[in-house]
Amino acid sequence: MSAPTTAPAAAKAPAEVVTRSISQDVHLPGVDRPLVLITLDNGHDHTRPTTLGLAGLTSLQEALTTARDRAAAGGISAVAVTGKPFFFLAGADLTMAAGGGGREDAVRIGALGHDVYRMLGELAVPSFGFVNGAALGGGVELALHCTYRTISSGVPAVALPECFLGILPGWGGTYLLPNLVGPATALEVIITNPLSNNRMLNGPKAFRMGMADAMFEPADFLERSLEWAGDVLTGKVAVERATVPNGGVARDEATWTAALAEARAAADAKVHGAAPSYYRALDLVALARTADRDTAFAAETEGLADLIVSPEFANGLYAFDLVNKRAKRPVGVPSASLARPVTKVGVVGAGLMATQLALLFLRRLKVPVALTDLDAERVERGVAGIRSELDALVAKGRMSTDAANRLKGLISGSVEAAEAFAGADLVIEAVFEELEVKKQVFAAVEAVVAPECVLMTNTSSLSVSAMAADLKHPERVVGFHFFNPVAVLPLVEVVRAEQTDDATLATAFAVGKQLRKSCVLVKDAPAFVVNRLLTRFLGEVNAAVDEGTPIEVADAAIEPLGLPMSPFVLLQLVGPAVALHVAETMHAAFPDRFTVSQTLAKIVEAKRSGVYAWGMDGKPYVEDDVKALLPRGGSASTEEQVRDRALRALAEECRIMLEEGVVAEAADIDLCMLLGAGWPFHLGGITPYLRRAGLLTR
Ligand SMILES: NC(=O)c1ccc[n+]([C@@H]2O[C@H](COP(=O)([O-])OP(=O)(O)OC[C@H]3O[C@@H](n4cnc5c(N)ncnc54)[C@H](O)[C@@H]3O)[C@@H](O)[C@H]2O)c1
Repeated sequence: MSAPTTAPAAAKAPAEVVTRSISQDVHLPGVDRPLVLITLDNGHDHTRPTTLGLAGLTSLQEALTTARDRAAAGGISAVAVTGKPFFFLAGADLTMAAGGGGREDAVRIGALGHDVYRMLGELAVPSFGFVNGAALGGGVELALHCTYRTISSGVPAVALPECFLGILPGWGGTYLLPNLVGPATALEVIITNPLSNNRMLNGPKAFRMGMADAMFEPADFLERSLEWAGDVLTGKVAVERATVPNGGVARDEATWTAALAEARAAADAKVHGAAPSYYRALDLVALARTADRDTAFAAETEGLADLIVSPEFANGLYAFDLVNKRAKRPVGVPSASLARPVTKVGVVGAGLMATQLALLFLRRLKVPVALTDLDAERVERGVAGIRSELDALVAKGRMSTDAANRLKGLISGSVEAAEAFAGADLVIEAVFEELEVKKQVFAAVEAVVAPECVLMTNTSSLSVSAMAADLKHPERVVGFHFFNPVAVLPLVEVVRAEQTDDATLATAFAVGKQLRKSCVLVKDAPAFVVNRLLTRFLGEVNAAVDEGTPIEVADAAIEPLGLPMSPFVLLQLVGPAVALHVAETMHAAFPDRFTVSQTLAKIVEAKRSGVYAWGMDGKPYVEDDVKALLPRGGSASTEEQVRDRALRALAEECRIMLEEGVVAEAADIDLCMLLGAGWPFHLGGITPYLRRAGLLTR
């Protein structure tokens, strides 16, 4: 092992909340020498995740140095590491990496992490990671350096989210994980999960994937882990890892090449080469098959350092900060003390959105939820759909049968609003996107609910103020705009209409929090934030096609940005009819800037679900009957011209939205796009991106 690296000199980061490594001797039955139990504790409760900055790493280094010397002298039997309640370790303190110390400091951060962590695997005695709570990034890596691991079945989050943020698991993760669980499983954790909106594992899943050797219940996790460690030390338990999925530590080149190719294809499909972190991590996992530790760790340190100083990481940190701080403390919201309790929810409509909303309210609020629709058949179909979604959650092991049955008992449906909504404190509508229909619906609901019942609309583009205008109590109407799929996209745009009162708004934000959504306050302006920007952007791409640009060219134009999907794939997801309807609404509101594409209108008229069909190779192609609908001749633009025009349009729209006060600050536009449109973290926020491109000045 190399000599311990000293802490980076330029620690310009904000004051570190120091995680201390507290050692104590534990005597295990039948084991003659004590086990040193190191507890990672930052001295705060569970609301402040434990992270390791420079001082924290140094504290761990000191604890491990003492343990190493005692082990070498034959004074201890083992070393174990665990965390404070709810947290094992949430990884490195990101502000350390963002300290602005340059590449040299970044190299030192990588090397110091390796030097400290690898002591755990290089002691004269075995080491144990007792993963009692959330383990993220450097937390997972710390456990990986140990000889053995136990995990609590109650751990809510296990993940290596580094690539998502623009860096890579650079304290041993890219080497140790594939060598523990095999390349395919490791790449799922390192590459595929971060690509999928930063998906996390829980304790049982991580255990099944081979990331821990034993799993215990949370209630007596530490006692059981210590007991198990004692059994390992006395030879009563032999740890077998040959049965890990994906062939465990298969060394053959073919297995690794296939797993790497699959993960690379997943990265290409999602970020199109635009986020370097994924590709650097792939190279390191490839290296992990043959390299020794020193070589692999040195390469990790170099990769980490390159990425720490990259613009993509700075962008990732900006986005991370917005999503973790601003989204949790929305700006401009009335006091939570004004919020009214919600003990029963009504949902008008039993269609695509309404059923997803009913399921979410049911799962999170656990109160009676009643649905209505135009006829009994639709109501029954909606209720049955929700019940089968609950069954699916049980089948996937994400809900117990008892819990599902309890929720099934809370859902009901009726064609009679009076019957369904009696006693409701909140009714949300998700009926057809037509102002007159929505006005009639609210009038009918108002006739059967108490004057204080909050009325929410899930409209994507209509005026909430207009919807409320003729009601007796317009002050209780608020926009509550979800994104499809509701379970996946975390954003709700909360729309304050002209007459919405503070209690209604406070209730909307309180409910949003209970639903575990990120709420952003927006003004009652056409299509609010996300749909307004997406419609403007799609409008420009469609206009280029109307002018004679081939679909393939227009669709590839945005690829260099690394957005999750291309414009015409997005169109297919939204549905041409919905897209046309929103484009028409926006054209009516802002005729100068929003166009209605003739090609899109023809596609809707032809009842096509989009412009693409998918070939056997999984790639989209434009079918002949769609080609027949396209304009002939005209003037074709290049990819660059389409991209330039779309970005200029986005910048113009952002500027106008800020002037109109649609949101409080530009950061809210960024947040909406990150959470509601899948705007990639590696681009940071949309407004700083457009500013960097010289297209936006404020
Ligand atoms: N589809 C999306 O991606 C999406 C996303 C966000 C918001 N929205 C908005 O959600 C709303 C619903 O959209 P959807 O896609 O679920 O539509 P949908 O067509 O799937 O469902 C609408 C349902 O409302 C019912 N309905 C119509 N008039 C009714 C009335 N008077 N009383 C009771 N029920 C009535 C219909 O029978 C239908 O079942 C729209 O305002 C839409 O803009 C849609």
